[in-house]
Amino acid sequence: MDRIRIVGGTPLKGIIPIGGAKNAALALMPACLLTEGTLALSNLPHLVDISTMANLLAQHGVGMALNGDARNGGHTGRVLELTAAEIVNTTAPYDLVRKMRASVLVLGPLLARCGEARVSLPGGCAIGTRPVDLHLKALEQMGARIELAEGYIAAKVTGRLKGAHIIFPQVTVGGTENILMAATLAEGETVIANAAREPEVADLAQCLIAMGARIEGVGTGTLRVQGVAALHGAEYSVVSDRIETGTYAVAAAITRGDVELVGARVDLLESVIKTLTECGVAIEATPRGMRVKADSTELVGTDIMTEPYPGFPTDMQAQLMALMATASGASMITETIFENRYMHVPELMRMGAKVNVHGASAIVRGVPKLSGAPVMATDLRASSSLILAGLAAEGETIVNRVYHLDRGYERVEEKLAACGAQIERIKGEAAE
Ligand code: EPZ
Repeated sequence: MDRIRIVGGTPLKGIIPIGGAKNAALALMPACLLTEGTLALSNLPHLVDISTMANLLAQHGVGMALNGDARNGGHTGRVLELTAAEIVNTTAPYDLVRKMRASVLVLGPLLARCGEARVSLPGGCAIGTRPVDLHLKALEQMGARIELAEGYIAAKVTGRLKGAHIIFPQVTVGGTENILMAATLAEGETVIANAAREPEVADLAQCLIAMGARIEGVGTGTLRVQGVAALHGAEYSVVSDRIETGTYAVAAAITRGDVELVGARVDLLESVIKTLTECGVAIEATPRGMRVKADSTELVGTDIMTEPYPGFPTDMQAQLMALMATASGASMITETIFENRYMHVPELMRMGAKVNVHGASAIVRGVPKLSGAPVMATDLRASSSLILAGLAAEGETIVNRVYHLDRGYERVEEKLAACGAQIERIKGEAAE
């Protein structure tokens, strides 16, 4: 397994390109199942999770063609053409689904297009049990018959799904995405109340509209869909990754550097920008994205609570904690979305961070300097917080199990090294 070695202490200076959003791409790709036409996705990030989704779709019979894309402001985002002319298999097998929970997003499209689907239950993951009960209840309201057997979701519908009035008892990004895709081909109108408002959900809705879907309320908590008989292919560019943007903004802040994030969209991460500004980080929009400067002021602690969009994103909680560990004063961090998203805490403490976790809250007391240490990545965003801490720590940090990181961040060490970070990947033995 690869490791990443960092010698901390260098303020980052320069430019970091921001790619397309992983969590948008993982919903946009299965949307291809809804049509026989070709869906061409550009600005696609090059990530392990994207390859996993491509493998899953391929075994359903989706034809794929990948080519480079020099557009999008010079980013190296790729163009992937997906064509589900014929779906040869409606089963999403355990050995693929267990690698990536977002695989469950084939359920709605397969049901809508084929009238049946057999999808492995995703199982839990490091940050929580993460059930899909809300997805299933909503599909049953649309006329699907659903059985759970042998670790699989077996779903069937006679004829077409029926439009329904869905009220999600709690905000679910994946649940909203599954139902939104299913509703585009259902008979009649579907209303999704308490829908997720994440930009990735809005991106999926805009892509579906480009494919001929009839959707109103994009970006709001209530989506209204008029089902149509069929969708057609489209070309669509994946929205900028707001979590990658926030992560590199923290990298600039924690090293007290000055970096421009090219391709960033400030309108997608207002809550993160507000929080970093409160801590003393200078952030301004530029014609190409946003500039993050922290080389002249002391950073101070602040309090945050993770919430559904537009609140502070749970996917930025671990990264902010790393920054707060080096800010002066105390910070209170409360995680309200997942029940076990503090796996990065013991690892940060090995680097000298002072953190006390009480249930869903963590008190962080800033220290003047973190110290480098060997640490273990446990999940995607925890890994990124360890990299961030390593960039600021005195001495050498070795982050083990960086396969977690590669699921969601493209060319991390390259992007950081280009801004002066002393960071390198140590290729591991496959067997390790
Ligand atoms: C998406 O996961 C993201 N993943 C996650 O990003 C993100 O943390 C999460 O949304 C919240 O923003 C992708 O988009 C691929 P949810 P998802 O359904 O859809 C509970 C990352 O680091 N819930 O909004 O799985 C659930 O347990 C990843 O990029 C149910 O109880 O999240 C959780 O506590 C991590 N029943 C809460 O709702 C359900 O049927 C939010 O989950 C569905 C969800």
